Amino acid sequence: MTQAYVIDEMISAKSIAARIEALAGEIKTTFADTDKLVVVGLLRGSFVFIADLVRELDLNVEVDFLEASSYGDAMESSREVRILKDLRGEIGGRDVLVVEDIVDTGFTLSHVIHLLASRNPKRLETIALLDKPTRRETDIRASWTGFEIPDEFVVGYGIDYAQRNRNLPFIGKVRFT
Ligand code: IMP
Ligand code: MG
Repeated sequence: MTQAYVIDEMISAKSIAARIEALAGEIKTTFADTDKLVVVGLLRGSFVFIADLVRELDLNVEVDFLEASSYGDAMESSREVRILKDLRGEIGGRDVLVVEDIVDTGFTLSHVIHLLASRNPKRLETIALLDKPTRRETDIRASWTGFEIPDEFVVGYGIDYAQRNRNLPFIGKVRFT
């Protein structure tokens, strides 16, 4: 059982949609010359974000997923990152965009970038919906960030607390009662 909590809205569904539209514009410019962009969602937290993002990208896209272990069911990050599910497709010589929900310590994204870079993509960029810069323990930075947020535990828009609240349409802050 998790401790009782309430969720306070931090970023509205409308703000998220507006930000994604702006980010998609920048991504389209960066990958303007691509014949096909491989958009890689990191499971499970990015599933809502990737769904909205790809629908704003009028590029030829292929969608793939990768799952790396991070929190388990707790609120503490782990330094050891394991790949639980690898990509189905090859990325050698291709344009790749990795889509992450939150960059916290940065260990997850750092590990994934090193792994994918070793497969020699033509171009490898990253986008994170949320960034908690004060929590960083690595020197990783996403190519694009939706919103910088303070050190708060958040849920919604695909992001969970112990597998709950992924279906909220907004980003909310967890407050224990
Ligand atoms: P990092 O490896 O510490 O950067 O952790 C990144 C992963 O931790 C993200 O992909 C999230 O799944 C998870 N995470 C980090 N902060 C939060 C949060 O506030 N709520 C829910 N999950 C989080
Ligand atoms: Mg998670």
